[in-house]
Amino acid sequence: MTGRILVTGASGHLGARIIHHLLATQGVPAASIVAGSRDPAKLAALAERGVETRRVDFDDAASLATGFAGIDRLLIVSTDALDGAGTRLRQHLAAVEAAKTAGVGRLFYTSMPGPDDSMVTFAPDHNKTEEAIKASGLAYTIFRNGWYMENLFMALPSALASGQWYTSSGEGKLAHIARDDIARAIAAGLAKPVSGNVTYTLTGATARTTDEIAALVRDVTGKPLAVVHLSDAQLSEGMAAAGVPAPYIPTFVSFDANTREGKIAMVTDDATKLSGVGLMSLEDFLESSKAALLG
Ligand SMILES: NC(=O)c1ccc[n+]([C@@H]2O[C@H](COP(=O)([O-])OP(=O)(O)OC[C@H]3O[C@@H](n4cnc5c(N)ncnc54)[C@H](OP(=O)(O)O)[C@@H]3O)[C@@H](O)[C@H]2O)c1
Repeated sequence: MTGRILVTGASGHLGARIIHHLLATQGVPAASIVAGSRDPAKLAALAERGVETRRVDFDDAASLATGFAGIDRLLIVSTDALDGAGTRLRQHLAAVEAAKTAGVGRLFYTSMPGPDDSMVTFAPDHNKTEEAIKASGLAYTIFRNGWYMENLFMALPSALASGQWYTSSGEGKLAHIARDDIARAIAAGLAKPVSGNVTYTLTGATARTTDEIAALVRDVTGKPLAVVHLSDAQLSEGMAAAGVPAPYIPTFVSFDANTREGKIAMVTDDATKLSGVGLMSLEDFLESSKAALLG
């Protein structure tokens, strides 16, 4: 076992599951784990188990100096600050700079697939963070996280309610992966010995078009669901008419455009190689989410 591991964003969905898998799946002693959050009060259950909790806020340089002190392996979980004003990139760059100053042994980061060649509006945040990590001189491991199966909750409940799934993803394919499978793989990557600089792309095992996903959803739910293929402009207009807040629409449309252009169709076995176990299938995810999807 190496020195201490710090996971930032430990109260978030992904951060919490990574720490769960460090403890329960990888058998890392609680004393070797530090959980960082803007609000350590949310980490009380981990503190009770012997995990040290620290305040870590990428907007507060002082919290990064104290938070990263004495850490061997530091995982920066990307933030959710998608305000279109550069906040997220500024936060990530501050964290990378503080990691360098603290002299951590290895820097880990949660990125996205193909950030240098993506149409997704926030891809530059990840690309520029990766560049800063590579320029830092620190040893690094980058996890390019594929799209979560859980993201399907953004579109499917309303699509099932209306029977129509509007998309501009065309014939583009996407290999969704369960968020917990990403957490399991990242925990393995954090816990196991590693040398050199590594970039993993964590995807599901099968890439599917929206029509193919809709067919699975019909099978599992027994409900009608027609895929309505639109242009990006039509999708954007439809979202506005449905009341989606204007600042979010370009990002949502960019997901579909990125899929249509084949930029997130990659399938790798990096997640299973890291964790050593198979991944949840989309069929099983839909089956276990059936009640929630149908509201
Ligand atoms: N691959 C995908 O499909 C996908 C989907 C959604 C999001 N993501 C990305 O993956 C990340 C983790 O996903 P998730 O499902 O865990 O999202 P989430 O539950 O929304 O978590 C957001 C995370 O951002 C952290 N955060 C926000 N502001 C911060 C700040 N100023 N300093 C430090 N940390 C800050 C939060 O940490 P604390 O609250 O504990 O401070 C929390 O871990 C997201 O933040 C986003 O960048 C990926």
